[in-house]
Amino acid sequence: MKPLVIGDLVAKIPIIQGGMGVGVSACNLAGAVALEGGIGVISAAQLGYLEDDYDENAERANLRAIGKHIKKAKEIAKGGIVGINIMVATRNYAEYVKAAVEAKVDLIISGAGLPMDLPSLVKGSTTKIAPIVSSIKAANVILKMWDKKEQRVPDAVVIEGPLAGGHLGFKYDELEHIEELNYDNEVIGIMDAVKQYEEKYQKHIPVILAGGVATKEDVKRCFDLGADGVQVASRFVATKECDADIRFKEAYVNAKKEDIVIVKSPVGMPGRAIKNSFMERVMGGERVPTKHCRACVTPCKPATTPYCISDALIHAVKGNLEEALIFCGGKIDQIKEITTVKQVMEELMGE
Ligand SMILES: Cc1cc2nc3c(=O)[nH]c(=O)nc-3n(C[C@H](O)[C@H](O)[C@H](O)COP(=O)(O)O)c2cc1C
Repeated sequence: MKPLVIGDLVAKIPIIQGGMGVGVSACNLAGAVALEGGIGVISAAQLGYLEDDYDENAERANLRAIGKHIKKAKEIAKGGIVGINIMVATRNYAEYVKAAVEAKVDLIISGAGLPMDLPSLVKGSTTKIAPIVSSIKAANVILKMWDKKEQRVPDAVVIEGPLAGGHLGFKYDELEHIEELNYDNEVIGIMDAVKQYEEKYQKHIPVILAGGVATKEDVKRCFDLGADGVQVASRFVATKECDADIRFKEAYVNAKKEDIVIVKSPVGMPGRAIKNSFMERVMGGERVPTKHCRACVTPCKPATTPYCISDALIHAVKGNLEEALIFCGGKIDQIKEITTVKQVMEELMGE
């Protein structure tokens, strides 16, 4: 397998570790993956949750934490590539992008919405940009708009399929019948759309496949489909280096297939998570009022939201699992032990 080349960034191992919020992929996990030759990605989602002033002013804490975590991850990575995942649905998205660029992050990956303004926000910097798409339609909209408005193409494109964790760019009924989606056809369609712009700009645009990549066979399948790299998230949760509490990691090791469910998120998109008593309560119609809104994501309406997604995700990363939304990918039943980042990467590469 060839290295993953994104502009002047060269990752010896063509694996991007997917950003996981809140706090699941922070400086320690991202730094460790980058040190091993992959691309480590911090999630910007409420990254300041451990800062002293988080309850007082979450945005200020989050923006400061972005700088701190990028710096620390780069120290751990010793020259390896460190990226950040910033969801388009983040309130004041532009400020988060600017903070990451200021901290000299190598790559920004953005999904959960269409990152239309991302090119202008990174202009003048060396930070590379990659949108996450799940459909040909979304890919075409982004490619066309960036071309028309900014005369540029993405430095890479991440295609996130229906087996991914966290928020998903699919409808609920599509996720009930994943095999009927024939998703490989969508992947090929997105790759064709990307190729048109490669020809126009005479530049290779690497395509990275994400969602349910859990084994070396999955990795091989992605490369056979024409990918330049894979984005893997869930497999990195059950590692010593992952920034989440041990109880979060153990929940992954213990989960069976029937524990993995599709849930409604206040972000307005479906999500995949481990079934627990909290999820059963809120899916059963119970409303957990928001005590302290941090205005985290634009689509959420605090007055009517069934629960506060930031609170639920912070409970998860801290191991407070009975009050938590435990996001996970569709193949975590294959995770059997807590190991190390190095081992996960060697396994995925078939070494
Ligand atoms: C716990 C968890 C949190 C996640 N948080 C984010 C996030 O903050 N932003 C985002 O764009 N994707 C998020 N994702 C999606 C991942 O970055 C990744 O693309 C996807 O999970 C890949 O599928 P896999 O987990 O099967 O490898 C999350 C996934 C998980 C499992």
